[in-house]
Amino acid sequence: MTRSASLVRDRFGRRAGSLRVSVTDRCNIRCRYCMPEDEYVWLPRASILSFEEITRVTGLFASLGVAKIRITGGEPLLRRGLPQLIKSIVRVPGVDEVALTTNGVLLSRYVDDLKQAGLSRVTVSLDTLNAGKFRQFTKSDRLESVLDGIATVRRGGFVRTKLNSVVIRGFNDDELHDLIEFARANDCEVRFIEYMDVGGATRWSADSVVTREEILASLSRRYGTITPVENRERAVPAERFRLEDGLVFGVISSTTAPFCSDCDRSRITADGMWFLCLYADTGCDLKGMLRSGLGDDEISARMREIWVGRTDRGAEERLALSARGALYQIESLRSDPHREMHTRGG
Ligand code: GTP
Ligand code: 5AD
Ligand code: SF4
Repeated sequence: MTRSASLVRDRFGRRAGSLRVSVTDRCNIRCRYCMPEDEYVWLPRASILSFEEITRVTGLFASLGVAKIRITGGEPLLRRGLPQLIKSIVRVPGVDEVALTTNGVLLSRYVDDLKQAGLSRVTVSLDTLNAGKFRQFTKSDRLESVLDGIATVRRGGFVRTKLNSVVIRGFNDDELHDLIEFARANDCEVRFIEYMDVGGATRWSADSVVTREEILASLSRRYGTITPVENRERAVPAERFRLEDGLVFGVISSTTAPFCSDCDRSRITADGMWFLCLYADTGCDLKGMLRSGLGDDEISARMREIWVGRTDRGAEERLALSARGALYQIESLRSDPHREMHTRGG
């Protein structure tokens, strides 16, 4: 692992900057845009990477230039001992940020341990503030736990906390203003996300997508002029905007205006499959390499080759389709659960 990480660029000149690490494919709620079905095929337990393996993988990615790690799931807080893993990852040379994307249900229980472990930032999914809608949408009645979790994040000393709200027509498109005000009151930055036709979103239809334009129009009717804010980093999915009263929020328009040309991210599943694109059909079996006795230099060289050959621009390809529906039907997801968003971790 001696070659300079900064030299690794893919065919479109994109560097490997950020890695999403899914630590479990399990989830304790059932968001309609991600897990709308009643039954799922889970990854076999023996295939799940150990903390030692995940830490080793993180070091291999750092040698490729990855400095940002985002822990995802399923619901990552379901993975027993998660703060211990975070403690190891923050010590990996080259890693300068470790963030967590969670549904918030278990957050209040773990927030102090996460802070002590060295976690940098937290993003919580929050699509509605209405308990009835939450129940209908997630098949769970734990909205109060989520709200409590968000409150404890601030008390626990975290800053730059974000909220992710997937906007779906006829469900929560009447709550944009409430979510903005909730974010303001809780010192978080809310990002409105266009509903994406990713694997797992079996109920997706173009009609149910509330577009970036519609989101901005709705907010400007309420708040007046909305001004774009210059992004500090280039390769981030959210465009940021400022209301006249100074409040900043984001819009992630992966469905109607994808950011593939700036994409610096890839993801590994809890069983060690490496996917270069959120929409990719196949991945690379890193677990196989780790468990076959190969040394770090050999694996790192192989990963470098793979990144250098990367040409994915999945969301742009989806946008170019003339007729767009769900990416996969349920049978295809059951035959390979790696196609699921909840396995891939976004
Ligand atoms: P920060 O801005 O650093 O907080 O990271 P992030 O925005 O990547 O984190 P988060 O997990 O909150 O991701 C936000 C949303 O962006 C996800 O929920 C997805 O909807 C979308 N997203 C994440 N990764 C990708 C990707 O690789 N491609 C596309 N098209 N969308 C993505
Ligand atoms: N469309 C948009 N975002 C999605 N997420 C999951 N499924 C979808 C989808 N179909 C996002 C949620 C959550 C993150 C982990 O993944 O916003 O915050
Ligand atoms: Fe990156 Fe693929 Fe997402 Fe485009 S669709 S931003 S290439 S992961």
